[in-house]
Amino acid sequence: MKNIVILISGSGSNMQAIVEAARTQQWAEKQGIQVMAVLSNRPDAAGLAWARTQGLRTESLDHKAFASRETFDQALMQAIDAFHPALVVLAGFMRILTPAFVTHYAGRMVNIHPSLLPAFAGLNTHQRAIEAGCKFAGATVHEVTAELDHGPILAQAVVPVLPSDTPQTLAMRVLSQEHRIYPQAIAEFLRQR
Ligand code: GAR
Repeated sequence: MKNIVILISGSGSNMQAIVEAARTQQWAEKQGIQVMAVLSNRPDAAGLAWARTQGLRTESLDHKAFASRETFDQALMQAIDAFHPALVVLAGFMRILTPAFVTHYAGRMVNIHPSLLPAFAGLNTHQRAIEAGCKFAGATVHEVTAELDHGPILAQAVVPVLPSDTPQTLAMRVLSQEHRIYPQAIAEFLRQR
């Protein structure tokens, strides 16, 4: 089996889309892929409760309880590795990763970012796209490498930016596309491995 471990920090709607795609598309039976666990750096992340209702293993490691980024990432690595992941999926995991963490999961970690990378790496992507006068926005699934929000692009989705858009309305339009492309990109990525 190819095990997936998903990391979240918040609502976990991308995580839900992945778990639901795995079930409806029978990833386990057809591709030998299974979502093993959902981990969070925020004990109160709403997505953890949902994951538990689905019978998934969950764990939270509160980053505030660690003295440094390095010690947190080391503990997180141990928690992840207990599930023997073929793929680590960052799904709204709002942490800067240490080089040791990125190196440890080189070639087996993916992220989704709410912009058309390489445009708008970092935070507040929707507000920045609106302020820049972009006519289109979107989302990018990419492999995680040392540089934040870079790494080989696996999938993208494009949506229009409407004159009436606020960062919130644009975020919702982009998010619904994230839910479509992220499960697809993960299944395709693991098919090739
Ligand atoms: C998503 O829009 C994702 O692209 C973004 O956070 C949101 C998480 O939503 N990720 C980043 O900004 C990473 N830098 P979710 O928790 O409902 O999946």
